[in-house]
Amino acid sequence: MTHEIIDRYAVIGNPIAHSKSPLIHSEFARQTEQALIYTAELVEPGHVAEFIKNFHQQNGRGLNVTIPFKEDAFKLATHLSKRARRAGAVNTLLINDPEHYFGDTTDGVGLCTDLIQNHKIILKEKTILILGAGGAVRGVLEPLLENRPGHLVIANRTVEKAHQLAKDFSDLGNISGSSFDDLANEKFDLIINGTSASLAGELPPLPDHILNENAIVYDMMYAARPTPFMDWGKQQGAKNCFDGLGMLVEQAAESFYIWRGIRPDTTDVIKKIRASLTP
Ligand code: ATR
Repeated sequence: MTHEIIDRYAVIGNPIAHSKSPLIHSEFARQTEQALIYTAELVEPGHVAEFIKNFHQQNGRGLNVTIPFKEDAFKLATHLSKRARRAGAVNTLLINDPEHYFGDTTDGVGLCTDLIQNHKIILKEKTILILGAGGAVRGVLEPLLENRPGHLVIANRTVEKAHQLAKDFSDLGNISGSSFDDLANEKFDLIINGTSASLAGELPPLPDHILNENAIVYDMMYAARPTPFMDWGKQQGAKNCFDGLGMLVEQAAESFYIWRGIRPDTTDVIKKIRASLTP
């Protein structure tokens, strides 16, 4: 009798119980007929390296990494993609052997795929505002700038962080930092919320009347109900208000591609995950 050894994958984080990743990757595996197991694993801070070693011994071949371990994963990766190096964070590890871990970040590609392919938004030459200057925003700037927006403005409560981030990416395009107050005389085609405000049910302190005609607002967070930022967009007359559920599924699809070399179709998976959300 032969025992088939099945490749294992997991998402690690703390907390992790509510992660949608096992559901998403099980759907991808079923659709693409890949034999694999994907689980969510709670890891204690300071134990990431030990976890990876044990996981590899149990046939672990790849990991997704979420809060608070994206910077640990960046440090532990022995090889990094160009985009992960620039982002300073890793959300995908490919573990081919116990000594060599390849680290990549798929969040930015996930965001751009959702914007461009799923929502048919053109980024080229558009005026884009992104809110927040933490790890979530740093991780998506390079792919956003690759789409050649006319101007990308980063606004943050702590304005120094917005200026620093703009400086770090200034070689890639027309990018600048701003306070929330200084946005009052500007207009934008697309506003992306990359702050953690929605997690706390809060709204970043945005001035009124900063949307161009046909403007779109996009919250990188998602929930069963529209976030406070999406409600704000609607009230300000945005043409469309989207949440980040598509980004979540698209970043997962890119991770799946890195591990298995096959690109799953995301349309039905996005619908399935949407239907699984409970208010
Ligand atoms: P992440 O890794 O999710 O980006 P982070 O690095 O802690 O998390 O960054 C959180 C971001 O959300 C920061 O830009 C933070 O602004 P400050 O740098 O001024 O703290 C922003 N943020 C959190 N709550 C906010 C709120 N209620 N209004 C506006 N910005 C908020």
